[in-house]
Amino acid sequence: MKIRKAIVPIAGKGTRFLPATKEIAKEIIPIINVPMIHYIVEEAVNAGIEQIVFVTAAGKFSVEDYFDRNLELEHFLERNKKSKELELVRRIGTMVEVTSVRQKEQLGLGHAVLCAKDVIGDEPFAILLGDDIVRNPKPAIQQLIEVSEARSGAAVIGVMEVSASETDKYGIVKGDIIDEKTLKMTGMVEKPRPQDAPTNLATPGRYILPPEIFSILRTIPKGAGNEYQLTDAINILCQQRDVFAYRFEGERFDTGNVLGYLEATVDFALKDPEIRDKFLATIKTRLQKNGLSL
Ligand code: UTP
Repeated sequence: MKIRKAIVPIAGKGTRFLPATKEIAKEIIPIINVPMIHYIVEEAVNAGIEQIVFVTAAGKFSVEDYFDRNLELEHFLERNKKSKELELVRRIGTMVEVTSVRQKEQLGLGHAVLCAKDVIGDEPFAILLGDDIVRNPKPAIQQLIEVSEARSGAAVIGVMEVSASETDKYGIVKGDIIDEKTLKMTGMVEKPRPQDAPTNLATPGRYILPPEIFSILRTIPKGAGNEYQLTDAINILCQQRDVFAYRFEGERFDTGNVLGYLEATVDFALKDPEIRDKFLATIKTRLQKNGLSL
């Protein structure tokens, strides 16, 4: 069955981005002039996803509004002959069908996903977390969709290699190697110490899951951090049906923390031909003014 819908949970409190997230959604914070959420939705749309289901919480309206039309702004740009800007704004407002459901209490990612159950219905779906931006000509989520389709609609969890010292920051998958990019999963371990990690393959927020995950999410108890964990449900799913981990291609930025966000900003600026040279000159000047060198 074609994967048409993607859940993008954005109900988290974003404590690592306080105080900005006191009043705005973390996902609306821009990398240069493009909100982080734009990259996530664009990845899904480029992979053929037709409907985005945001799981939202109080104060997250800005994200939904961003993907809506703003006719007043469009008229203003039209009147002032700003055709490039008009085209950009229009394109965002008509990019994809957006639906949102409320997570009334922040009880964890597993609970957030369960909140989208009725909109997803009885079909396989994608999940993309806004904390991770992945850049690649073929979207990461499309790579996972293709693996799922090639394996009769199996669940597929996107993974990336991390260094041994970093396993305690991620969910780490375990299972049997099928080929150099694919593992048949037997389960997942949440943030293992390097010496306890079954592999060095971490799960940075890209999933293809079957609708059966919802009935599992309904039954699991609270787990780590006293929250309903998606990881716990995936562990149970691994006992019931085929779940694969796939090492997708792409450069991934962990924009959920301030340093990762800064790294993405610098990298995006360096990759933008209109900004690069002036940006490099600015960095040189700033290093000098602060008595620093590289
Ligand atoms: P995080 O663990 O990164 O939490 O959630 P967070 O709130 O975004 O950020 P910090 O850690 O407080 O700084 C992973 C993803 O799950 C969503 C978040 O929005 C994020 O996309 N989430 C988490 C929910 O939608 N609901 C929850 O109850 C928890």
